[in-house]
Amino acid sequence: MSASSPVSLTRRSGAPASFTPTHLHPEVLDRARKLIALYPEPRSALIPLCHLAQGQDGWLTPEAMIDIAGLVGVTPSEVLGTASFYDMFHLEPVGKYVVSLCTNIACLLRGALELLEHAEDSLGVKSGGTTEDQLITLEEAECLAGCDRAPCVQVNSRYVEATTPETFDHLVADLRAGRRSAEIPAHGTLIRVQRTVGLAADRDEIARQRAAMAEAEARRAATDGTAS
Ligand code: FES
Repeated sequence: MSASSPVSLTRRSGAPASFTPTHLHPEVLDRARKLIALYPEPRSALIPLCHLAQGQDGWLTPEAMIDIAGLVGVTPSEVLGTASFYDMFHLEPVGKYVVSLCTNIACLLRGALELLEHAEDSLGVKSGGTTEDQLITLEEAECLAGCDRAPCVQVNSRYVEATTPETFDHLVADLRAGRRSAEIPAHGTLIRVQRTVGLAADRDEIARQRAAMAEAEARRAATDGTAS
């Protein structure tokens, strides 16, 4: 579904037990449920689920946020509120490759602005824009923790060598020709290997421990009350 889909993010989600997701693919849903089982509270899986959904669609769609909300028992607007805090989630469609160019201080001092200008000219888009072929989204980034390679460039969160206009053009040519696809998967893909054995949370044990903590707290309060 397109970015302009009239999907409301403000309706309340259903209770997790009765909610039927409609957007996430079956294999993604299966993975989502396994992830939820890792946490004492379903809502703790919200960010991992956003990554999963972004992996499916390449960006975090409103429909996916509604599914996530239903799965973890929050409102879609809470999912949106969380996801919009993080740069790593894209709330609008992006290209297969998101090229992030750092213009923070170390990179700035080593020609980042000139490189950004070259990138914008050669790709024909301004920072934040996507090329006509929908392949590349260019974005200006804050420090990417690669100051030693300034000016630092990442593609889909992978460091790449593109410190000069020439090496940047090589990078773009490689991306266009599909020569980097083994090393740089499509945007949204975080990992290609997933663990097959989980550490599912033991909800009975968690309930026991919480009850014990509440009991200890009540005893402490009663003792404090007696002492004062
Ligand atoms: S300042 Fe650019 S990566 Fe740190």
